[in-house]
Amino acid sequence: MVDGALPQSAARSGGWLNRLLARPGLHAVTMRVPGLRGFARRDGQAIFGIVQGFVESQVLFALVELDLFEALMPGPATAGDLALRHRVPVDRMAALLQAGAALGLLRRRGDRFGLSRRGAAMTGVPGLMEMIRHHGLFYRDMADPVALLQGRAETELARFWPYVAGGEIAPALAERYSRLMADSQRLVAEDTLAAVSFKGVRRLMDVGGGTGVFLERVGRRHPGLELELFDLPEVLATAQARLAGGPLAGRLRFSPGSFRAGALPVGADAVSLVRVLYDHDDDTVRALLARAHAALPEGGRLIVSEPMSGGARPDPVTDVYFAFYTMAMGTGRTRSAETVAALCRAAGFRHARRVPTRRSYVTSVVVAVK
Ligand SMILES: C[S@@+](CC[C@H](N)C(=O)[O-])C[C@H]1O[C@@H](n2cnc3c(N)ncnc32)[C@H](O)[C@@H]1O
Repeated sequence: MVDGALPQSAARSGGWLNRLLARPGLHAVTMRVPGLRGFARRDGQAIFGIVQGFVESQVLFALVELDLFEALMPGPATAGDLALRHRVPVDRMAALLQAGAALGLLRRRGDRFGLSRRGAAMTGVPGLMEMIRHHGLFYRDMADPVALLQGRAETELARFWPYVAGGEIAPALAERYSRLMADSQRLVAEDTLAAVSFKGVRRLMDVGGGTGVFLERVGRRHPGLELELFDLPEVLATAQARLAGGPLAGRLRFSPGSFRAGALPVGADAVSLVRVLYDHDDDTVRALLARAHAALPEGGRLIVSEPMSGGARPDPVTDVYFAFYTMAMGTGRTRSAETVAALCRAAGFRHARRVPTRRSYVTSVVVAVK
């Protein structure tokens, strides 16, 4: 428990209602009143859902770690079939499968379990299984959330993303995080492309573009566009090996460098920052946006695409998952579209505005003009 009283205004506004809702017998009473029963039941379920959320995630983690999604892809199996193969006692395997079915990831028919529609669909989401495995780190960082909030924790995610500290990066580390990003970048690219117009753009430079998945997608959709990939040299080496001789050869320029070290290359009339700003603190973001502004010609366009906070309307995914993920990275911050737009304006851009996207948990977009 943290010491400290609520501000007077907060205590006055709504305090009486909180005290009423917190009365121990109130739930039992509302469950007896027909008009209120539905509210009480839904609230009860929602509260319990939050209480047990960490167990649900770990059930999912076990299903993925034991490769049960792959094992059930050809068809249903019993706990006995799977127990031996995965070296889990049969009664515990039965408990795991039962929990998976309760969560709607598996489907139970008699004593056989198969993938549910949702479970099967999950295996097709690019990068999702890899990301769930990666959550082992994040889960350990969240084990003591108060230490994390107070800045007392040395986090595993900060080590996984070494560039946040601005130091040297071993190529093996760069390859590890780039691989994790590459698959999910396809979803982010799809939603960004659906939201943003590239009309009138001649050359797009993707800064912090990783292995180039975003540029590949843009290039496929807009065959006339010239493309430039800017990232750390250790990352660009992987991107070059992947893209050399592919359909973009001849249209794609590789520009190795650090956006912390100096000016960005000039020549592009649009710059994209896809899942870059939320890794960094405000000072780094301000400096990067100023460099993007300096690199663009008058009328040039800036596209920022990443999961953003709901701001005044808190978002159930970005203000929980992404906010704590970026916090555990150490320097990161999940900003609202309004905050990103304000940072763009402070760097000299005009017309910084949010562009609607399909799924806030995949990405949100802010576009600005120099
Ligand atoms: C979270 S990843 C996003 C990659 C890609 N845009 C995507 O959405 O999948 C952040 C990217 O920023 C790059 N990056 C980090 N610090 C950088 C720096 N100082 N200069 C250039 N790129 C940097 C990383 O190498 C990485 O590729």
